[in-house]
Amino acid sequence: MKLFDELDVYVEVGGLTVRAGRLGASFVGGRSLGGSWFTYDQDYFSVAGAYELSPDLPRTHSRTYSGPDRALFFAFQDLTPDDWGRMVMRAKLASDRQVGLNTPVVGDFDYLALASDESRLGAIRFASVGGSTWLSEVTVPELEVNGLAAFTGAAARFEEHEADERDLMLLGAPGTSAGGARPKVAARVGGELKMLKLPSSRDGGRDGEAWEFTAIQLAEQAGLEVQTGRLCRPAGMKSTLVLYRFDRTESGNRIGFISARTAMELPDHTFNTATYEDFADCVDMLTGGDRNQLRELFKRIAFTVLINNIDDHWKNHGFLRGECGWRLSPAFDVNPSPSIGSVSSRQINSKDDPRKRSILSLVASKDAFGLSKGDAGHALAEVLAPVRTWEKVAASVGIAEAEMKSMAPAFSTEQQQLAEREIARLIA
Ligand SMILES: Nc1ncnc2c1ncn2[C@@H]1O[C@H](COP(=O)(O)OP(=O)(O)OP(=O)(O)O)[C@@H](O)[C@H]1O
Ligand SMILES: [Mg+2]
Repeated sequence: MKLFDELDVYVEVGGLTVRAGRLGASFVGGRSLGGSWFTYDQDYFSVAGAYELSPDLPRTHSRTYSGPDRALFFAFQDLTPDDWGRMVMRAKLASDRQVGLNTPVVGDFDYLALASDESRLGAIRFASVGGSTWLSEVTVPELEVNGLAAFTGAAARFEEHEADERDLMLLGAPGTSAGGARPKVAARVGGELKMLKLPSSRDGGRDGEAWEFTAIQLAEQAGLEVQTGRLCRPAGMKSTLVLYRFDRTESGNRIGFISARTAMELPDHTFNTATYEDFADCVDMLTGGDRNQLRELFKRIAFTVLINNIDDHWKNHGFLRGECGWRLSPAFDVNPSPSIGSVSSRQINSKDDPRKRSILSLVASKDAFGLSKGDAGHALAEVLAPVRTWEKVAASVGIAEAEMKSMAPAFSTEQQQLAEREIARLIA
C-alpha cells in the first residue's frame, strides 16, 4: 500500500473539476501528523466560482501552515472518516497484517488519500502529485438483491468484533469515507450514490433508523429543509435508512460541504462553549445576512428541543456551496432521544442549561435570528403542530406501540405546553 506525504487537491466548482493547490504533511514520528501546509494554485482563483476551501486557508499566493493546535486544516478534517470509518479501515489493515501483508500503520493524513474518492463528502478530491487517478479508487458497489441484509449482518458482526475479511470488504474497507459513529456504507441504487445508515447494536431494542426516519417525516411537515431518504426493513431485521446524498446533484456533480465546526473554527465538534446564538452569527455572516436561513435555523433548534435531539454536535450541522456562496445544508442526523438530563447538548445561549434545554431560551434568543415577536411565534407554531402528531407518524413508519412508549420522554409535553403558551403570547 502506497502512502503519500503530499497530495494534489482538486475541487469541483459548478460541474468542473479544477486544481486548487497542494497539501503537504509534516510527520512527528511514523505517520503521526504534526502539521500540514497548503499552497493554492496560481490560477485557481481565476476560475469562475472558485472559493477559499477552508476558513483557515485564506486566499494568498504563499504557503499556509496549519497552527500548532491542529495538524490538518478544518475543511480537510471534515473529510477524514470519523469513528465508524476509521474503525473499519483499521480493522482491515490489521487483518491484512495478520495474514502477513506488509501493511503500514496509518495516521490522519493517510485517511484522506485512503478514503474512497467516489463517495467522499463534498467537492474536494485528491490525487498523488502529478498523478492522473483519484485517491482512492475504491468503487462503490450497486446495492444487490438482499444487499441490505448482507450489509446489516456484516455491520452487526463488526460491532461484535466478529467480522471476517468478507464482512470488512462489504463494509467498504479499507476505502470507506464514512463520517459519524453509526454503522453505514456507501452504495449505488439504480446507479445513484446513496448513504446507507444501518442498524446498530448500540440501539438496544430500539429501531434507531426508523426513529430517524420518523424525525425526517416530522421535520418535512414542519417545512424544514431536511435530507430525504427511504426506510427499508428486510424481514426480521431492523431498518436501514437509504439516504440521498445532499452533496451530489441529480447528475452526480459534487457540491462543496463544510461542517459547522469548520465554519466556526472550533477546536472539536462537541465544543460546548459555542452556542446556537454563536451559530446564528456564523450563518448570518456566511449567508450574507439571509433572513430565511436564520429563520430556518431557529425552526431547526425548536425542532431539536421539541424532539430532544441531544446529539446535535457541530459536525451534525453544515453548509453547502452554491453559486452565491454558502447556505445551510439540509438538516441531517436529527434523532429523538428519551434520555433526559444526562447528556450535554448544544446550548441555545450562554444562560441556557444544555442538559435541559427549553423553548423559553430559544424565544429569549429570537433577536439573534432576526425574528420579530410575531415571526418567532409563527415559526414555533409551524414546528409544534407536526411534532404533536409524532405517535401517528411513528405508527405509519411501523414502530410498535411498546417502542413508542419508551421513546415518549423525547416528545416532552412540558416543552410542548411551553411552546403553545409562547406562541399565544408572541402572536397576540
Ligand atoms: N444525506 C447525506 N448526504 C451527504 N452527506 C451526509 C448525509 N447525511 C450525513 N452526511 C454526512 O455524513 C456524516 C455522517 O452522517 P450522520 O451524522 O448521519 O452519521 P452518524 O453516524 O449518525 O453521526 P454521529 O456520529 O453524529 O451520530 C455527517 O456528519 C455528514 O457530514
Ligand atoms: Mg452525525
